[in-house]
Amino acid sequence: MRNFLVTDAIRDYAAQHGSWLPDDVVRDLQARTEALGGVAGMQIGDDEGQLLTMMARLVRARQAVEVGTFTGYSSLCIARGLADGGTLICCDVSEEWTAIGRRAWDKSGVGDRIDLRIAPALETLRAMPADPVLDLVFIDADKPNYTAYWDELVPRVRPGGVLLADNVLWSGEIADESVSGENVDALRAFNERVAVDDRVEVVVLTAFDGLTIARKLDA
Ligand SMILES: C[S@@+](CC[C@H](N)C(=O)[O-])C[C@H]1O[C@@H](n2cnc3c(N)ncnc32)[C@H](O)[C@@H]1O
Repeated sequence: MRNFLVTDAIRDYAAQHGSWLPDDVVRDLQARTEALGGVAGMQIGDDEGQLLTMMARLVRARQAVEVGTFTGYSSLCIARGLADGGTLICCDVSEEWTAIGRRAWDKSGVGDRIDLRIAPALETLRAMPADPVLDLVFIDADKPNYTAYWDELVPRVRPGGVLLADNVLWSGEIADESVSGENVDALRAFNERVAVDDRVEVVVLTAFDGLTIARKLDA
């Protein structure tokens, strides 16, 4: 097995060899996000963005949900992979951050595919119909609520649909028992919950900051 540290140069190389390269709209979105300061680190990278687009295409997503939108980059990546007529519901609590996203979505021509709901995500999810119609879900908001988001979302995903959850390895600290804290403890509980959930089959990718990919099984 090969092990190596993924430097910025390696990550850039990987992204540059994917199918979709950032255009001027995305570069502008990324620059506006960088200008916000340290919170910019919450934005996913171009390599993960390419994966989100591909996942949306692989499941032929028409109905998708994102929990944690920030400045809208991951949502742009999902939206560009939606099937014709597809919709992405975006959940966030920040008008300020998501306004940056709206601008980029409109400039990219995907604004009409995105339904932004500003409210605590649990409220938004609980208000959604209970039917299993979702094709794709991306969870990337407050870590202490990951398990609650999972519990709301799994029943709403169709058989064969996919749930993704970001940051599940928490910079590798997840496997270091000497480390504890609100976020890492919540993510450990989330990972335990997902691992024994017989409604899904699961892979935990060691790419990015750890990405769970879960496919809903037939009932
Ligand atoms: C890690 S960022 C999302 C990054 C985004 N997916 C991207 O790649 O650009 C987390 C987001 O979750 C939002 N958030 C935090 N708590 C929330 C809650 N209870 N309900 C909805 N959104 C929440 C924050 O406002 C923030 O924008």
